[in-house]
Amino acid sequence: MRSIVGLLSAALLTAAACGSPDATPAAATAAAAERDVHSFARPEDARVTHVALDLVADFASKTLTGRATLTVERESGAREIVLDTRDLTVERVADSNGRALDHAFGDADPVLGRPLTVQLPDGVRDIVVSYHTSPTAEALQWLSPSQTAGGKLPYLYSQGQAILTRTWIPTQDSPAVRQSYSARIVVPRDLRAVMSAEQLTPEGREVPEGRAFEFRMTHRIPPYLIALGVGDIAFREIGPRTGVFAEPSVVDDAQRELADLEKMLIAAEQLVGPYRWERYDALVLPPSFPFGGMENPRLTFATPTILAGDRSLVSLMAHELAHSWSGNLVTNATWSDFWLNEGLTTYLENRIMEALFGPERASMLKVLERRELFDEIARLGGPESDDTMLHVNLKGRNPDDGMTQVPYAKGAALFRLLEETAGRERFDQYLRSYFDRFAFRSITTGIFFDDVRTHLVGNDESIVRNIRLEEWLYKPGLPDNAPVPESAALERVEQQASALGGGAPARSLKVQGWVTQEWQHFLGALPATLTPAQLRDLDTTFGLSKRGNSEVLFAWLRVAIRNHYEPAMPALERFLTLQGRRKFLRPLYEDLMATDWGKAEAKRIYARARPLYHSVSTSTLDPIVR
Ligand code: BES
Ligand code: ZN
Repeated sequence: MRSIVGLLSAALLTAAACGSPDATPAAATAAAAERDVHSFARPEDARVTHVALDLVADFASKTLTGRATLTVERESGAREIVLDTRDLTVERVADSNGRALDHAFGDADPVLGRPLTVQLPDGVRDIVVSYHTSPTAEALQWLSPSQTAGGKLPYLYSQGQAILTRTWIPTQDSPAVRQSYSARIVVPRDLRAVMSAEQLTPEGREVPEGRAFEFRMTHRIPPYLIALGVGDIAFREIGPRTGVFAEPSVVDDAQRELADLEKMLIAAEQLVGPYRWERYDALVLPPSFPFGGMENPRLTFATPTILAGDRSLVSLMAHELAHSWSGNLVTNATWSDFWLNEGLTTYLENRIMEALFGPERASMLKVLERRELFDEIARLGGPESDDTMLHVNLKGRNPDDGMTQVPYAKGAALFRLLEETAGRERFDQYLRSYFDRFAFRSITTGIFFDDVRTHLVGNDESIVRNIRLEEWLYKPGLPDNAPVPESAALERVEQQASALGGGAPARSLKVQGWVTQEWQHFLGALPATLTPAQLRDLDTTFGLSKRGNSEVLFAWLRVAIRNHYEPAMPALERFLTLQGRRKFLRPLYEDLMATDWGKAEAKRIYARARPLYHSVSTSTLDPIVR
């Protein structure tokens, strides 16, 4: 099987809530904060319920051009609707009969973009916005052929979460405003379009401008989940309901790597109830994709850096699959409630991994997660920092600021505490009922708080006090009743790391049969400083700089930078220029910038690599590499 580095070099990147009147302070806070501060929309007056897209993708001008027809539902007195836009050029707004509708843009906000207010005369239900996107639209990455695996054809993909959908669709871009959608996308004749929806024309249809593809998502989803990919894309089946899309030269490796997808789907259903989206496919993107994965409904988008060759990184697919319930079925109503999406998903990810691969693998993942949480809390300024709360205050800030390891790992720890307290059987029942109660709805932290009290602990105040739910949700730091995961395997790994620190040569370490997670833990547990001789010994004995596994290579490169280990620098430069996953890029550039010698290196490499990264990554990295 091909390693990720092999694969990457082929892809040459060189070129209502808490309404009880006697609300607790916590619930009251949540109620006050319920408005989505990241959208201009006023859905309580008029809201979009369906989006019909009719767009042409033009690679020469890097624009999507066409129309979005929005179906509007409004309160009887409402005379206008407010949409979110950013960097969109609007040519015309009309009703479904072609009659022009008055409209005006408001002031631009650097984070939120510009509100577009459209007048709604009596009787108007559908509004047709004719528009085109900007070549620099943040949601869209237009890749040149050299940035793909095939090297011959261009590629386009979108990334909506958190508030980027407004850069390619003029709609109400709030996770509380759920919308169904349909789309007709015209692309160059030799390319194929895929979306987070049912494919009505898998092969497309010849039209004068190219090839047209049609899609339909009948469920109402938050707009950040509307997603598009266009490229030289092939498909392989995995199971009756699962499969994988990728460029032709990658798709067989992807099929082999993701062979457990159908089993994961079955395990997830046993845990949380029926899968409600019919199919579950993955789209493996070119290496610049800024995330590990993105849970677009029916079609998870994934980085090629999970193709390790040995299926060792598939917990990422378990995670994205779990979002089919936590995130896509029941959605965070605002970005301050992001932990509800990611915390519950991280919890479910681990349960799926346990079901498929056993408790030992699951424990290892939990231990790694806990260490990452402590590192993150330190990075955020320590356990007193408000940014370590589950419900974070994001007013006036970019929602990205809240998207740290905290909502994932602290969130998952809370669900593990709830499981421990209620017992697994009762907790699992609760989860299934939770997904039924809130199916296809967007909820806040306050609603969740009330729901746990009513349906899990039966309003038993002593349990509520014991769990300290309010502290978990609305106070910084990790409460000391967080369950502590244990892994005998990783304890043995720690002993090997100490032995090395104590002067033992690498060849004397007991590393036989180590899996990826053990290597990750080993590298993370090494002493802060190692001598040049120790580093060389480690590298030559275990071939660390040559590892194809992206997670292991990443962990090693952090050790190498911290100790200024020159021989690993070519591998570092390759890694930074061959993939664009923010989770890998940020720590590596930060580590470099923290040293005198590394600053210049970081700037040099970044100047070369930056054009290859997605805006999601460059927005994070620009302030770091300066
Ligand atoms: N929904 C997230 C990706 C995301 C987060 C997009 C914030 C935009 C803003 C996705 O489910 C995710 O968490 N991906 C992780 C991998 C996962 C296994 C923790 C990633 O991309 O690293
Ligand atoms: Zn996630």
